[in-house]
Amino acid sequence: MSTLEGKIVLLIGGSSGIGFAVAKASLLSFASHVVIASSSPQKVKDAVTRLEETISQKSLPGRATGYVVDAHDSAAIRALVTKVGEIDHLVWTSGEPLKIGFPNIDLDTVRNAFDVRFWGALVAAQSAKFKPGGSVTMTVGTVVVKPRPTWTVAAGVSGAVDAVARGLAVDLAPIRVNVISPGIVKTELWDTIPPAQKEKIWSQAEATLLVKHLCEPEEIAEAYLFVMKCGFITGQRLEVDGGFKYV
Ligand SMILES: NC(=O)c1ccc[n+]([C@@H]2O[C@H](COP(=O)([O-])OP(=O)(O)OC[C@H]3O[C@@H](n4cnc5c(N)ncnc54)[C@H](OP(=O)(O)O)[C@@H]3O)[C@@H](O)[C@H]2O)c1
Repeated sequence: MSTLEGKIVLLIGGSSGIGFAVAKASLLSFASHVVIASSSPQKVKDAVTRLEETISQKSLPGRATGYVVDAHDSAAIRALVTKVGEIDHLVWTSGEPLKIGFPNIDLDTVRNAFDVRFWGALVAAQSAKFKPGGSVTMTVGTVVVKPRPTWTVAAGVSGAVDAVARGLAVDLAPIRVNVISPGIVKTELWDTIPPAQKEKIWSQAEATLLVKHLCEPEEIAEAYLFVMKCGFITGQRLEVDGGFKYV
């Protein structure tokens, strides 16, 4: 079975949720250096501490480093990837709360919905320096194939990321570029909505999803590790949604 032994993984959005789980799974897969980055200095510091605890508890060979970057700022992203230097794998999970509420929203106030998820990820993919066998993994969501009511803008952003990844797979080849499309994953992202509303959405999903449970961050991390490690997959969207589109 292949591992990430000796590999350098840069995770922008690695300070919480899915990105953090992928960072931890990469270390458990013997990556030599895991670099996480996001906009909150405290979250980056805490996440590095948690990763270092895992390294120490499991006597892992890798190390973890954190950087602060605001992914709205293209120059800051370019400076970060220059500072980190050559990498094997770039994973993009950075994203702010989605812009939902269509049609009752002022579209001029949500144009920036593309800044982090689309432009940030594209700038990072363009400017990163990859070692042979390297890869880029981007993140969308089930909205790309099955939009919920009021999610039109989010569908547009996800669709743009999904399409640009296929373009990148051609333009960056032989660097591989793939997209993960998670269903509901139990992460900090959900702390931004009122608890009662969250409970309602979660219990409804648990009852209806084909797999009858929500995704743990560790489960979705497996999908990211797969596309990093499998040298023959590129230009693909992997739907890891518990069967959401069938219910
Ligand atoms: N959780 C789900 O159910 C689910 C389902 C489908 C798709 N997704 C997608 O998966 C991705 C990750 O979600 P998650 O659940 O892991 O969310 P999360 O726990 O909120 O993680 C988001 C990450 O993005 C970073 N971030 C936010 N704004 C940033 C900025 N301006 N610059 C740099 N980093 C920034 C956050 O750190 P800072 O706050 O420190 O910046 C954090 O590390 C998102 O695109 C989300 O839409 C999630």
